[in-house]
Amino acid sequence: MPGRPGTPPGSNATLDMVLDTTQQNQRMTHFSDHDAIWLFGYGSLIWKAGFAYLERRPAYIRDWTRRFWQGSHDHRGTPAAPGRVATLLPSPGAICHGMAYRITPETLGPLDVREKNGYLREVITLHFADSDTAQGLVYIATEDNAAYLGDAPTAEIARQIAEARGPSGPNRDYLLNLDEALRALDVEDAHVAELARHVRHLDSETSDA
Ligand code: BEZ
Repeated sequence: MPGRPGTPPGSNATLDMVLDTTQQNQRMTHFSDHDAIWLFGYGSLIWKAGFAYLERRPAYIRDWTRRFWQGSHDHRGTPAAPGRVATLLPSPGAICHGMAYRITPETLGPLDVREKNGYLREVITLHFADSDTAQGLVYIATEDNAAYLGDAPTAEIARQIAEARGPSGPNRDYLLNLDEALRALDVEDAHVAELARHVRHLDSETSDA
């Protein structure tokens, strides 16, 4: 199983990877006294919110890069065969494009539960196309969380994504929907595009067989 060294499949260590960050997030009080909060989405939130929102606007954040380095044991994979989903890596000078949602504070509770496998809320500055900026929140899975997988050769990450499937569906759909949504926003993300190219190639090999 791909993942952290020394955690064989089926062991208790595998179960430990299903971390629950819900309580940590719900102790965060930033913006809790506001009527509305901006939330920056850079993964599935770009193509599917799954919650009610007041407003939705393309936005970007500075000094972060999107990477498929977070393991998904609960949505796009299983503890025995985790998938890979997006997280953000600190990257001075980089820009990460995504989608901003203006939400009410009550929306965060269910999101904390949905994203409990390693993601923590962070305060971030959002930039909008008209040069407007706003303070908001973003969920980031950092390298110290138990489900973190980190880097691997592109072909290996693509194969893992092509093969994984979890309660929220095939891992490949997450990647390919994200790739299409970024293209629709006119955003070039070389990491996502390269992975999507690999996964489409693997799909075509399977359908030719
Ligand atoms: C997102 O799609 O931006 C996202 C939301 C919650 C956790 C991780 C990513």
